[in-house]
Amino acid sequence: MQERIQEILNEAKEKIAQAATPEDVEQLRVGFLGKKGKITDIFKMMGKLDKEEKKTIGPAANKVKNEVDALINEKMAELKEKAKQARFKMESIDVTEPGKGYKVGVKHPLTITMEEVSRIFMSMGYSIAEGPQVETVFNVFDGLNSPPNHPSRDLTDTFYITEDTVLRPHTSSVQVRTLKTKKPPIKVISPGRCFRCDTPDATHSPMFHQIEGLVVDEGITMADLKGTLDSMAKQLFGSNTRTKFRPHHFPFTEPSAEMDVSCFVCGGKGCRVCGGNGWIEILGCGMVHPNVLEVGDIDTEKYTGFAFGMGVERIAMLKYGVSDIRLFYENDKRFIEQFK
Ligand code: DAH
Repeated sequence: MQERIQEILNEAKEKIAQAATPEDVEQLRVGFLGKKGKITDIFKMMGKLDKEEKKTIGPAANKVKNEVDALINEKMAELKEKAKQARFKMESIDVTEPGKGYKVGVKHPLTITMEEVSRIFMSMGYSIAEGPQVETVFNVFDGLNSPPNHPSRDLTDTFYITEDTVLRPHTSSVQVRTLKTKKPPIKVISPGRCFRCDTPDATHSPMFHQIEGLVVDEGITMADLKGTLDSMAKQLFGSNTRTKFRPHHFPFTEPSAEMDVSCFVCGGKGCRVCGGNGWIEILGCGMVHPNVLEVGDIDTEKYTGFAFGMGVERIAMLKYGVSDIRLFYENDKRFIEQFK
């Protein structure tokens, strides 16, 4: 019996020394001191011993039990401390390390331009109307009084999704949507993305942006159109800017015009930016054709309106002196960051 006790003690010492985790130690505690543990078994067998044996085995077993218990506690404390130190090390923060720098982004020059134009019109009481980029053929052509043989309806000019849906070639479709849903007085602008089957070059892109405008009310005349767009031009390009309206044709306006602004680089004398003639073409406009107003069941005897549409890229290129439209879409930070 004495030998057995000694054996158990040796085994316990060896295994405790080898234990690597608190869980290992806990298992050893169960294995030696638990209900069915090896040392507990010794105590269970004591009943079968005679008096003399009990006298020696009892204290010996107790001593081993206490010793193993102490070793286990000691080992447990040591391993827990080790784990704690390891965690501290892992979770510690070096407050002297340099911080991570966050780069603040900048607005895209086209966004800046659209926001600037929008702000000018909002200050004149316009609200913003939006429409989808995938549009019905009715909203981009028929509703805008475009005849069935109009060249822009060609498959080579406009991207068709199905026979009667397209990627909108202009934002004028928002005019139709607005007229169908709102009653006069109407005063909206609509900035957005447009698409045309153009091969990209320095001045063309199959995807570009426009800002559309629409005003419908009683007594609206060409004078309102001219005053509004002249005021916009002065706010956008400088208070010395002059405007000029040239007759033009659009199916959805009658009469129609194109507006030029005096060159804001040379002031009208003629330079590289204005191609030498002192004027720069900025937008198309006109008095809304009665056929268009009728799409919205608007009484054309009572109401009249004007509309305009301008290319955002063109304005941004002129304002910022950008010579190639493709620069806007390349996402080169060195380009975009110049417009902060
Ligand atoms: N939709 C025309 C274009 O894409 C621009 C335009 C011209 C819009 C005259 C208008 C307008 O609203 O009245 O070239």
